[in-house]
Amino acid sequence: MTVASAVAHIMETLPRLQAGQVWLAGAGPGDPAHLTLLTLSGLDQADVVVHDALVDPAVLALAHPAAARIPAGKRGGKPSAIQADITAQLISLARDGKRVLRLKGGDPFMFGRGGEEALTLAAHGIPFRIIPGLTSGLASMASALIPLTLRGVNQAVVLATGHGADRTDGMDWAALARLGQPIVLYMAITNLAVIASALIAGGLPGETAAAAIASATLADQRIVVATLATLADAIRREAIAAPAIIVIGAVVETRARLLALLPALEFPPS
Ligand SMILES: C[S@@+](CC[C@H](N)C(=O)[O-])C[C@H]1O[C@@H](n2cnc3c(N)ncnc32)[C@H](O)[C@@H]1O
Repeated sequence: MTVASAVAHIMETLPRLQAGQVWLAGAGPGDPAHLTLLTLSGLDQADVVVHDALVDPAVLALAHPAAARIPAGKRGGKPSAIQADITAQLISLARDGKRVLRLKGGDPFMFGRGGEEALTLAAHGIPFRIIPGLTSGLASMASALIPLTLRGVNQAVVLATGHGADRTDGMDWAALARLGQPIVLYMAITNLAVIASALIAGGLPGETAAAAIASATLADQRIVVATLATLADAIRREAIAAPAIIVIGAVVETRARLLALLPALEFPPS
């Protein structure tokens, strides 16, 4: 079977996006190569694509030419649509009989408000389906050659948000520090210095390896490796900007080991 016929065969078996239905779909980390066939099928079928700010233009370009594209992103620190307005718009479009693709970066159920939107759609009797996507926390690890689990090094992984970490009623960072397991942080660039201090105060050594991966999978991807104590400064020095994933833990050291063992291989720019 050729790739084209295999893809065509799978596409034929996929569910149809019905009139009046909303698909809450993940667009993956950026590079369209990471789209699932279900999300691609949603892009092909939708009358309207309501998309987040982080959905890459190369992904949006795959929508059906007749589809309306409505930006509805929420970006930290920048003017953005109010969540209640976004959900009201989804309900209204579905009630108008549109086939609606609600497209989010990464996975819709990972720090993407997909849960809140699904609950509201369900409460209003709007039929919906969740289409998973490759979350940026995992895609970033692949791009940076950092295995999130390594035998003999860790038995668990923590996925956390850095958003709101500067609030006193936020996360118990000392509890995460005590786990001694790798920590993957979304939305953490702004509060990284605060988070690092809290983790160090909680007992995680400042020398613990740490890395930032910005714009993972995209042409402007950047990777900075430092330690828990020095990463915030390194990010500032290197002018690393959001969107970025932070990873803290001994697993980060694997990147240097792999690069040393495979110097002849070409990897994405770092
Ligand atoms: C609102 S959260 C959405 C997460 C998304 N639902 C996911 O599963 O990846 C936005 C954060 O995801 C991370 N992110 C999204 N795309 C990224 C990328 N291509 N590279 C690195 N981090 C990314 C950043 O931490 C960003 O601040």
